[in-house]
Amino acid sequence: MTAQQKKRIVILISGSGSNMVNLVEHCQAVKINADVVAVIANKADAAGLAKAEKLGVATECVPHQGYESREAYDHVLVERVQSYQPDLVILAGFMRILTPVFVSAFADRTLNIHPSLLPKYKGMHTHQRALDAGDEEHGVSVHFVTEELDGGPVILQAKVPIFAGDEVEDLQERVHEQEFRIYPLVVRWFCSDRLRLIDGKAHLDGAGLGPHGYASDE
Ligand code: GAR
Repeated sequence: MTAQQKKRIVILISGSGSNMVNLVEHCQAVKINADVVAVIANKADAAGLAKAEKLGVATECVPHQGYESREAYDHVLVERVQSYQPDLVILAGFMRILTPVFVSAFADRTLNIHPSLLPKYKGMHTHQRALDAGDEEHGVSVHFVTEELDGGPVILQAKVPIFAGDEVEDLQERVHEQEFRIYPLVVRWFCSDRLRLIDGKAHLDGAGLGPHGYASDE
């Protein structure tokens, strides 16, 4: 059996980058058969940039200010990401709405993690919205990125309980814990060629996944 070729990953961040760090560490420990070849932020003060540097990963900032349109920015971002020839692009707390310019450039090979049980609570402030709605559970989804914001096929979700008296920070922490488990798992599936987007549907080991992804209990 020939050894599978290592995949090349570019991670996009906007903030603290804790998911990014977790993924880089999984790759460096060879728990994922891939190298994170670059971390790119749209904000110069993204704390994750220094963390990536410390881990020995190439970093870049591509600030989003000063462009006449989202598309104009996305053209530049595509060019920068493309320069690293990634097999996989990972959004890890990248807080920008991507246009078809970006999405089509990396179609079928862009993943995102979103802090809600999609299709519930697309967009921002998901923890607050779950609390405001009086939900008893909340969670996180990893999905393929398509042109619909937070609307691409779900690959894997994890649920967390909501307890009386919970604040946004409690949920954030509980969700983060699950993020650190499920994102590396999904990235490992992709990097071992087990996970594919075929005809707009996520497939694992050749089987199409349902609306809530793998191991859905619905
Ligand atoms: C994560 O909780 C991620 O799910 C969320 O941002 C956080 C980034 O944390 N992403 C979104 O809200 C995307 N819509 P991190 O920078 O510590 O990894």
